[in-house]
Amino acid sequence: MGWTSCIIWFLYVSVSECWRLPGSEPLMHGEVKSPEYPRPYPPNLQQQWDLSVPEGYQLRLTFTHLDIEASAGCHYDALTVLYDEKVLGKFCGHENSADGHHPGNQPILSPGNRLTLILQTDDSNPERHQNVGFLAQYQAKDIDECSAPEPEDGSGPLCSQICLNTLGSYLCSCHHGFELRSDQRSCVLSCRGGIFDEPEGYLSSPGYPNAPTHAVSCQYIISVESGFTVSLNFTDNFNIESVDTQQGPNCLHHWLQVTIPDREPMKLCGGKSPGLIVTNSNTVTLDYHTDNDGMSNGWSLDYSTHRVKCPYPGNVAKGRVTPVLAEYLYRDYIFVRCDQGYKLMMDGQEMESFSTMCQSNGQWHLPLPECHIIDCGEPKPLLNGGVTFLSGFQNQYRSVVQYHCNEPFYSLLGGVNVSFTCEADRRWRSNSDIVVSPTCIPVCGQPTKLIRAYQRVIGGSKAPDNTIPWQTLLSIDGQRGGGMVIADRWIMTAAHVLKHNGISASNESVRIYMGLTDVKAPSLSPVSAASIHIHPGYNNLHGLDYNNDIALIKLQDPITFNSSIMPICLPAEDATYVTGMMGLVSGFGITEIDNRRILSNQLNYVQLPVVEQGPCSDSITLAKKTRDSVPSLTNNMFCAGVPEGGKDSCQGDSGGPFALRDDGRFWAAGIVSWGVDCGHRGTYGVYTKVTNYLDWINKTMQEN
Ligand SMILES: *[C@@H]1O[C@H](CO)[C@@H](O)[C@H](O)[C@H]1NC(C)=O
Ligand SMILES: *[C@@H]1O[C@H](CO)[C@@H](O)[C@H](O)[C@H]1NC(C)=O
Ligand SMILES: *[C@@H]1O[C@H](CO)[C@@H](O)[C@H](O)[C@H]1NC(C)=O
Ligand SMILES: *[C@@H]1O[C@H](CO)[C@@H](O)[C@H](O)[C@H]1NC(C)=O
Ligand SMILES: *[C@@H]1O[C@H](CO)[C@@H](O)[C@H](O)[C@H]1NC(C)=O
Repeated sequence: MGWTSCIIWFLYVSVSECWRLPGSEPLMHGEVKSPEYPRPYPPNLQQQWDLSVPEGYQLRLTFTHLDIEASAGCHYDALTVLYDEKVLGKFCGHENSADGHHPGNQPILSPGNRLTLILQTDDSNPERHQNVGFLAQYQAKDIDECSAPEPEDGSGPLCSQICLNTLGSYLCSCHHGFELRSDQRSCVLSCRGGIFDEPEGYLSSPGYPNAPTHAVSCQYIISVESGFTVSLNFTDNFNIESVDTQQGPNCLHHWLQVTIPDREPMKLCGGKSPGLIVTNSNTVTLDYHTDNDGMSNGWSLDYSTHRVKCPYPGNVAKGRVTPVLAEYLYRDYIFVRCDQGYKLMMDGQEMESFSTMCQSNGQWHLPLPECHIIDCGEPKPLLNGGVTFLSGFQNQYRSVVQYHCNEPFYSLLGGVNVSFTCEADRRWRSNSDIVVSPTCIPVCGQPTKLIRAYQRVIGGSKAPDNTIPWQTLLSIDGQRGGGMVIADRWIMTAAHVLKHNGISASNESVRIYMGLTDVKAPSLSPVSAASIHIHPGYNNLHGLDYNNDIALIKLQDPITFNSSIMPICLPAEDATYVTGMMGLVSGFGITEIDNRRILSNQLNYVQLPVVEQGPCSDSITLAKKTRDSVPSLTNNMFCAGVPEGGKDSCQGDSGGPFALRDDGRFWAAGIVSWGVDCGHRGTYGVYTKVTNYLDWINKTMQEN
């Protein structure tokens, strides 16, 4: 018993494996008995049992029965119990025998984990076959090593500080501030090293403020989150042995080395506290080293951490950086807002908003943006007008623009100057409460050049350039007619110019020339009609009914007015035709040269007075008596001319203007319509009375 055996197994499982024989492991308990028990034991016996329990336990032996021949001093038969060489007991007899030495019920405790039993018997036995021998149980009992007395060999206590008993063994432990040495028995002052990751803390050398009794080599690492820096604040009580050398004091044998990344390590020693060390790093390593000689009481320090500082962010022109702080630390945010009228710009891109954070490396996450002035873009263009800057430029914030029309051909509708300011929302905002979008309306009836003296058409004069800019020359299938510009898309003329024998001229057959004073001018280019509108009441099948002799032509493209093409004003609703008022009649019609009537290539004009309806009517009645085909005068007509004749409008002038002038503006009082002969004594020219058609004109222009 109590031995282990190893056999070599050559099997497929493994080449060599060591197995413990079953039962070879020391048992925690067992039974031992004399041979042949419970029958009497044989004589002449010398048998030995080596009992054992596992290491770290004591073996306890308890006899359940012992019956061995009794003799004084167990001289003949005896069961001897030994621990090593030491006899713990020699037993014989039985429970009630007077002789012998019976163990009774008391168990026998071995000082160790083994026990040897020897049964010795002699050959003579007076009560042969009477004694049955013994039966005993043994078991392992845990040793409380800790309560064992200190060994006498002077090796000191089992554990230098705290002993903890365990089943079959024991453990040593140390008081706070100490740690177990590698011998697992003795305790030394602890370095309490390791990693310090709290934002603040206290560190001191082992045993501080006393000198440790042995060499120490301790490492302390302070390592906090990046974005924080560690500051060491050594207390005044600082003492590390320094050696005086020729070069001065030297940290030769004892030192505290402070290592900050990317810096030369510092070796500290001496009697003066280094005080505050600002590391600007989030990790610091402290290595404290002493040897067994010398006396260093050590050191202690408080460490604290501070957030990394970022540089002052600076200012943004035309913007604000918030918040304003004395210093900007890790995780601080700043925001930039631009002043009103400015926008955030970064790398050429506009940004909605801007913020940047102070990073753990002490740098701002983004550089500051810029504030650029906003602009409202080009103001809406104005047809026949433009924009002038009253202040500012490039459509920038706070620029003020004013619209103007191309004078003198156009004027602003309403006549009020409206200016627009570029606002912070990047819109042009009117300075007026009444938000009107400016419109340029053509100036009518105001030629840039005036005729000095009026003459006549028949017996009239050539009109200088730009004096009658509304004059239009119509050519319908080779026939000439006149007309006048009344709006940028509208020409007014006589119905009979466009309708013959009940047939209207087609849009395509009408050619319209404007801005001419000479038909032979090189720049002759007609514009086209989009639609023709003959007054519905014009019904002149036989050339005898000139009532409602009015028509409008809509142009395909609007005209841009200039000094050579301008509209004539339409009559005011309350316009009156005062007898004797001089009107300006113009046209490219028949003129008289050397008493021969020829079609003129020049624009001619004549000044003729308005004639009272009565005398005109009389002259027509008179004419009807001598001629067959004389049309009738209606209230939609008026007459103009001079009784003595010689001045008139004639064929070819038809549709042309009879212009009256009020307050410096020419208005279209009449359309050249018909007459009995041209320029004869006692006859007058007859004109369509435009004032009677204002509603029709208005309606036609609006509906088309
Ligand atoms: C360093 O510690 C001392 C006390 O030991 C204290 O008075 C001093 O204010 C501390 N210095 C800093 C910068 O914390
Ligand atoms: C409009 O503005 C123009 C240019 O600034 C100025 O000449 C004109 O007199 C102004 N007209 C009115 C009605 O204020
Ligand atoms: C002229 O053109 C307009 C529009 O296209 C059309 O309605 C009209 O009938 C045309 N008139 C003539 C006479 O061709
Ligand atoms: C006026 O406008 C017409 C048509 O656009 C053009 O032919 C003419 O040359 C212009 N006249 C002047 C004086 O600008
Ligand atoms: C023509 O119509 C406009 C708008 O409907 C109106 O303001 C104007 O007075 C009218 N003109 C005439 C002469 O009826």
